[in-house]
Amino acid sequence: MTKVDVLLGLQWGDEGKGKIVDVLTPKYDIIARFQGGPNAGHTLEFEGIKHVLHTIPSGIFREGVLNLIGNGVVIDPVIFQKELEKLAPFKIDIKSRLVISKKAHLILPTHRLLDAASEQAKGNNKIGSTLKGIGPTYMDKTGRNGLRVGDIFLPNFKEKYDLLVEKHVGILSHYDGFEYDLSVLEKPWMEGIEVLRNLKAVDSEQFLNDALKSGKKILAEGAQGTMLDIDFGTYPFVTSSNTVTAGTCTGLGVSPRAIGDVIGIFKAYCTRVGSGPFPTELEDADGETIRAEGREFGATTGRPRRCGWIDLPALKYAIMINGVSELSMMKADVLSVFDQIKVCTHYIVDGEKIDFLPYDIANMDIQPVWESIPGWKCDLTKLSSYAEAPKALKDYVDYLEQKLETPITVVSVGPDRTQTLQTR
Ligand code: GDP
Ligand code: IMO
Ligand code: MG
Repeated sequence: MTKVDVLLGLQWGDEGKGKIVDVLTPKYDIIARFQGGPNAGHTLEFEGIKHVLHTIPSGIFREGVLNLIGNGVVIDPVIFQKELEKLAPFKIDIKSRLVISKKAHLILPTHRLLDAASEQAKGNNKIGSTLKGIGPTYMDKTGRNGLRVGDIFLPNFKEKYDLLVEKHVGILSHYDGFEYDLSVLEKPWMEGIEVLRNLKAVDSEQFLNDALKSGKKILAEGAQGTMLDIDFGTYPFVTSSNTVTAGTCTGLGVSPRAIGDVIGIFKAYCTRVGSGPFPTELEDADGETIRAEGREFGATTGRPRRCGWIDLPALKYAIMINGVSELSMMKADVLSVFDQIKVCTHYIVDGEKIDFLPYDIANMDIQPVWESIPGWKCDLTKLSSYAEAPKALKDYVDYLEQKLETPITVVSVGPDRTQTLQTR
């Protein structure tokens, strides 16, 4: 039996998962998404073109590789159809390159409305949701009310749909002053369902386990990041799924014993989009510089990302929860402008110096403890091998490897596929 390798984000998302999955895809037979939905925006760049994927796995551009949307994913048929339309110019044979789990849940138009109504009602306490209906859809899944991809092939699908919408309309009526026109949203949704009906829906857990038995190599592609995990993230400012390695097992139906390498991916600094605690956030000129140099604006919502220095206590926690075996460090090129790069090694909480993530960081005063590392102050984007990298960059990588007790095997120095350095 072969194993399932996992690639996932260790921070608050947008670490560069799409890019690295695309780089790694030639080593695999199947790329599988296991959680999240169109709240994700995964960017790939090659041959001068930038692609942003939301639901479709990031292996879709490579020939001979199958892409699978697992049972743990939630799908909005409207966004999914738009994604397919964007891929149309590239003449990809989607029918032969993409399969979808019958157990993946559907995001209804009313789930999106519920997301919006809930955020509106929260006022200043809003999560900063992408408003894609993620939370309400997972709520219906765990509440045992959800609609799944397999249901669209049933004769009573419309009945099931109407029943769930009726329930949602009832809930929406409790939100004072929340107005909507469902009929406008329903038409494209039903069109999207038709598109889904024409694709290949499979019993994906069986499919993947058969593939492992026959020696196929699988890479599981995470969405969001560990600090947005529903259990281990900065609750309640999180998403509604398990973004960690364990989510691969439940989101694909593969056993824990089938997990192979776990590749954890992080930026050489840190970002967050949406509300919630961010101990190393920079609300000064350095933060602005990172945002500008790193073009830190959301791939899904276009919102400016909050920026800060790297946070080692949070990274160590993420490495522990995920069982990370190797690391990819992204966007090193963005830090080229700085004379000194700061690293948060500990937190001061209630006068005590700690190097772990305490409970409920959303509601406590955390002061980061900084160390300064000399910057490399040169352009990295044209490097073609790690051997040629400046000593200061290698020192930063060595320093992080030692602190994180995990090898950094990839250093990324630009958004393009080719701007990827192997350290060993
Ligand atoms: P994902 O959600 O983890 O796939 O990441 P996003 O696509 O949301 O955000 C990462 C952004 O950084 C995208 O715009 C990428 O094109 C870009 N990117 C990825 N790696 C690098 C890198 O090494 N350097 C720079 N400058 N940009 C990068
Ligand atoms: P990728 O896969 C960054 C954030 C939102 C919000 C919180 C909850 O591209 O890394 P949700 O819509 O899930 O209810 O929003 O999570 N969020 C992300 N932030 N990258 C993502 O995905 C995200 N998906 C959700 O900004 O704070
Ligand atoms: Mg993203």
